[in-house]
Amino acid sequence: MRIYFDNAASTPLDPQVIAAMTEVMHTHHGNPSSIHAEGRQARTLIEQSRRTVAKHLKASIGEVFFTSGGTEANNMALKNAVRDLGVRRVISSATEHHCVLHSVQALDRHTDDLEVIYLQLDGRGYPDIDQLKELLADPSKTTLVSLMHANNEIGTMIDLARVGAICQEYGAYFHSDTTQTMGYYPIDVATNYISFLTGSAHKFHGPKGVGFIYINGDNMISPYLDGGAQERNMRAGTENTYGIVGLAKALDLAYTEQDSRRAYIRHLQQYLKASIEAEFPAITFNGDPDKGHYKLLNLRLPASPQTDLLLFNMDIAGISVSGGSACSSGTDTGSHVLRAIHGDTDNAVNMRVSFSHFNTEAEIDRFLEVLRAILRKGQ
Ligand SMILES: Cc1ncc(COP(=O)(O)O)c(C=O)c1O
Repeated sequence: MRIYFDNAASTPLDPQVIAAMTEVMHTHHGNPSSIHAEGRQARTLIEQSRRTVAKHLKASIGEVFFTSGGTEANNMALKNAVRDLGVRRVISSATEHHCVLHSVQALDRHTDDLEVIYLQLDGRGYPDIDQLKELLADPSKTTLVSLMHANNEIGTMIDLARVGAICQEYGAYFHSDTTQTMGYYPIDVATNYISFLTGSAHKFHGPKGVGFIYINGDNMISPYLDGGAQERNMRAGTENTYGIVGLAKALDLAYTEQDSRRAYIRHLQQYLKASIEAEFPAITFNGDPDKGHYKLLNLRLPASPQTDLLLFNMDIAGISVSGGSACSSGTDTGSHVLRAIHGDTDNAVNMRVSFSHFNTEAEIDRFLEVLRAILRKGQ
């Protein structure tokens, strides 16, 4: 049996989600825009799903729009804010997921008078909030702050409520990529100041290729995709009915079982951390593991002949981990997150281990056994 420790890249589908989706596949083939009975039934499923998502975020149903995933939702937030809300300054960080970072870079290239500023980071990946306040004190440009809630590679988290309050105080828009925390931490848009949030079903045991964006109702933005009146005219294209139903089911389960899943996964994370500390003193941790996202631990190993092909050897031994985000590890270009924190010349080997409630302590024991064998080989 393989051991899957790459849950920050994607999670296995929950059997209850599969059941909800297959039921829709078998019984609801109508186009949700059709006015006949089949169409109306499909529309009802989508609106029920929207209500579920809105309920968990304490949002209005008119503020939730389904998308093809986190990437599209983040592109939409950033590009629409610049296009429609008069944003002329974007403040972000170099450790954002590429779908944010590359969107900001594209906006920078294609928008003449746009100023882009990346906040300084400390050694654990925290953006400098005092610098943010200093920058926001200059009110001359309409500003969007885009800071992810939890970093997908190292787990470092911002205080969503605090950053939101600062943005509100200085009149800036606030977008947070919540793709890694949606379903894992309570998110309340009724009491926090947030302009845009994003979610992706496959990060919380739902299907791939479906996500959503929360857009605060005060922000009047135009459609991102043209060609149809779907999603209240905000995103053209026939909706992914079974994907949306799966997303809502998975999010509902994630929030209903949040406390027990969180305690269990945090226990797994701490068990691995304590075991590493006890047995491998040369291994340290990227980020701030005790305060960061509980679903992952990012190990930092000194470069050596043993760690040369670490991820490959783990894979051969039946254990799936990653070197960073799925895209960077796939193309083996290294981690832009760790480069931003440790610099270009750092040659440490980094390994992200990310958990779900389907993992067990026995799997961690096996991981440690394999790590031990790899690190001792040839010594
Ligand atoms: C922080 C973060 N943002 C955005 C995304 C992109 O989400 P999706 O895979 O749904 O496009 C991911 C997933 O890779 C992520 O971890």
